[in-house]
Amino acid sequence: MIRPARRLADIAPFHVVELLTRARQLEAEGRDIIHMEVGEPDFPTPEPIANAAVDAIRQGKTLYTQALGLPDLREAISGFYRSRYGVAVPAARIAVTNGASGALNLAFACLADPGGEWLLADPGYPCNRHILRVYEGRPRSIPVGPASNFQPTPELLRRHWSVSTAGLLVASPANPTGTLLTLSEIAALAGVCRANDGHFLVDEIYHGLTYETNAPTACAAGDDIWVINSFSKYFQMTGWRLGWMVIPEAHVRDIEKLAQNLVLCPSTPAQHAALAAFAPETIAILEARRDEFRKRRDFLAPALESVGFRITARPQGAFYLYCDCSALCDDSFALASDLLERVGVAATPGLDFGSNAPERHIRFAYTTGIDRLAEAVDRLRRYFGR
Ligand SMILES: Cc1ncc(COP(=O)(O)O)c(C=O)c1O
Repeated sequence: MIRPARRLADIAPFHVVELLTRARQLEAEGRDIIHMEVGEPDFPTPEPIANAAVDAIRQGKTLYTQALGLPDLREAISGFYRSRYGVAVPAARIAVTNGASGALNLAFACLADPGGEWLLADPGYPCNRHILRVYEGRPRSIPVGPASNFQPTPELLRRHWSVSTAGLLVASPANPTGTLLTLSEIAALAGVCRANDGHFLVDEIYHGLTYETNAPTACAAGDDIWVINSFSKYFQMTGWRLGWMVIPEAHVRDIEKLAQNLVLCPSTPAQHAALAAFAPETIAILEARRDEFRKRRDFLAPALESVGFRITARPQGAFYLYCDCSALCDDSFALASDLLERVGVAATPGLDFGSNAPERHIRFAYTTGIDRLAEAVDRLRRYFGR
């Protein structure tokens, strides 16, 4: 029998995609669906970025670039670390990648050995464990909850570390909870990884989208830490497929070789576009939009709580509210599908984020305007009779 590689059996689909397909079907039938399942900003890419791409394409800047990206863009990212965080990150350690996804693929292609175990927070971003599986690494969950702000602690890390553990991947702010790690927490996790000769990867894709304090970068906690970021979320360039990674110096050449072979280079027009991402006029647009996300969070969190959802850790960033719905139902998957069918509200069930009490949780994204969020809350109130 002709069959695909064995690893395919371990790659799960995104359950929310099935929900989305149904949502589209209902929309085609004329139903009004409020999309709170979507993990991307609803704003278009800022004009200065779009204009830079159009100019680059018109000027014929469409050929391959260096595998690690345009030198000017690597310099610009290095400058961003200096101006935003006051941290010196040499451009030579920065690789431009095909989104954070491309960075995660390159990092695991470089670091994952067959059977090597990687610790991941559960709940967490679902693709991590699948990307890892593709490179024959073994994901191992650290269940996290409100007691540790849905982040791993040094104590949890020590408890889960085994002889086969190769490293730890965390995200701050995290998806689906929006919780942050402080610099001293990052440093403490890095200390445990170092003490065990393990790698430490920090996904900072939601940096810029924090609402009380700026998230500290793990680059400030040691140059042996792999730091992943992206133009997708704060810069609102999801479809451009562009991100970056700060690499420990000893592995820059490894990543370069992998990038040469696996992808040749990141998208050239997208890289030229991103050169405009750090311009003051672009940052002004992005900061205004960040304020809008904050207003949405401040509206939605108490509104959902008044319906009966519980938010057990304060979401400090990203654009998600991960809610405990156990007072309202015992199966968030059934709830998500019923909400869609009966009141036209699409949200992501906990199942997509791991196996740590997924049936008790549901994620609402505030990637739509406040008027639509208010309408969603009215529908939820009607649904639960509150
Ligand atoms: C935590 C996290 N990491 C990585 C990604 C991948 O993003 P991209 O490849 O668009 O940069 C996402 C996307 O939602 C995410 O939530």
